Amino acid sequence: MLIKRKDDIKSSEITPEHLYYNRREWIRMASVAMGGMAVGSIMSENALALTQDYKPKAKGPYDTDEKLNSYKDITTYNNYYEFGTDKSDPVENSGSFKPKPWTVAVEGHVKKPAVYNLEDLLKPFKMEDRIYRMRCVEAWSMVIPWMGFPLADLVKKVEPTSRAKYVAFETVFRPAEMPGQKRPFLKWPYVEGLRLDEAMNPLSFMATGLYGKELPNQNGAPLRLVTPWKYGFKGIKSIIKIKFVQDEPPTTWNIAAPDEYGFYSNVNPEVDHPRWTQKTERRIGEFRKRPTLMFNGYAEHVAGMYAGMDMKKNY
Ligand code: MTE
Repeated sequence: MLIKRKDDIKSSEITPEHLYYNRREWIRMASVAMGGMAVGSIMSENALALTQDYKPKAKGPYDTDEKLNSYKDITTYNNYYEFGTDKSDPVENSGSFKPKPWTVAVEGHVKKPAVYNLEDLLKPFKMEDRIYRMRCVEAWSMVIPWMGFPLADLVKKVEPTSRAKYVAFETVFRPAEMPGQKRPFLKWPYVEGLRLDEAMNPLSFMATGLYGKELPNQNGAPLRLVTPWKYGFKGIKSIIKIKFVQDEPPTTWNIAAPDEYGFYSNVNPEVDHPRWTQKTERRIGEFRKRPTLMFNGYAEHVAGMYAGMDMKKNY
């Protein structure tokens, strides 16, 4: 997701995983050598157990049955610029972030605006598992077993008025705990948005966990958005504000590079990123590239929302 010069692209598109793992291995060896129990090795053992022990509940209508990415893949290869721009920065730099206690402000055109304690906000919702195929705009993908609840449940609970046409989301701003926010990588706080019908679509999901456990900080604890038919950057993390608005809200990556990242950001193999193709992707953990699917394979559930819209213009 970096705004890069052309010659940098290859390194982001084809992740130098061997370098990355070598670096983690080096950190592990170095901390063993220093006499401490390596954080990395504890993490690996737990991650392996979590991956192996996870038994998803009954398969739901929106779940993919593709092979899950491992807990380790999902929690050590992240985009979360508040903690740095490298894929390994979020896991390494988010240890001091405090996702508890947490409040979420619901504002704008709703009958029930309020600042909710997260526990109170979550109380009425039935938690479920959702196994989603996730596609990053950088042309890699993963399969992630999320835990959480449909965003539509939250929307219904706060009762939007007829003036609410879009939902705007905002990430917490805490530079003391999020070292990346001390630097202008992006305009802080991170913001995102959906059209109201997109927010109400049964696929739109508010995740509070993955692999049946609470969300780790690097994945957006304690509450993040998941919209599996859109590029991953729509999935705003650590949400503190949800505002119902009349006009299309600003979004962080569109502010950063308007020609590259639009408001809709629907996964579309026919619309290339200006600097690379979106026709194929690399599933993390696999070598060979695979074709990218329209709406990331979720067309039957979402295509109707964009009928008549020019998807090249509304990228
Ligand atoms: N949310 C915030 N607040 N900050 C970010 O940098 N990165 C986005 C998205 N949400 C990001 C964010 C991008 S580019 C992606 S691909 C996904 O989070 C990655 O989610 P994951 O690390 O859980 O796979």
